[in-house]
Amino acid sequence: MDAIQLPKSWSVDRILDDLDQHGFSIVDDAYETEYIVDLIAECTHNLARFRDAAIQNGIVSNIRSDHILWLNPDLKVSNQHVQMLEILGQALNRAFYLGIKDVEAHFACYNAGEFYALHKDNPQGKNGRMISSVYYLHDEWQADWGGELRLQDKNGAWHVLAPKPNRMALFQSDLLHEVLLAKHQRLSITAWLRSDSGII
Ligand code: OGA
Ligand code: MN
Repeated sequence: MDAIQLPKSWSVDRILDDLDQHGFSIVDDAYETEYIVDLIAECTHNLARFRDAAIQNGIVSNIRSDHILWLNPDLKVSNQHVQMLEILGQALNRAFYLGIKDVEAHFACYNAGEFYALHKDNPQGKNGRMISSVYYLHDEWQADWGGELRLQDKNGAWHVLAPKPNRMALFQSDLLHEVLLAKHQRLSITAWLRSDSGII
């Protein structure tokens, strides 16, 4: 069997350079249409299983209102995305010695009116999350639908990034960011490249 390879659109040199210079990188046109169709189908067929992301261990927080489904190997299509991120993690380890060992990921669905307020995925290095990635898998996103990812880069500059279909954002997990109120259903896979294993 051929070794799994990253899609051509994932220019690893550019990603490494962007992360080094700015702490984030954007990959557009990440996947071929055939794969995207299967991925959207896997996500939408499982929407009834998504759970309120704000409730963890019975504790309700008001920082976010999206719904999530943690990925596992039975979700075969999204698992290929996780495998791609594992390969990317190896390249990041070679370049930056991040010690990435594992990728954890969930589908996320923001319905109209939902958001995720300002936060860091790994505040003060309290968990092993090194790099966050968000891949947007809805098939359309219009300019006035909100739901942007607003992110402060490692030099302090703010960026407002539209959740364009087939776009992947990669950023250091210690950077401040938020998801602005979505006005339309917004589907994604959030994944973390971790230097440890296990959930949070
Ligand atoms: C997250 C997150 C950003 C996005 O899930 O932690 O910040 O654009 N997501 O969905
Ligand atoms: Mn986040």
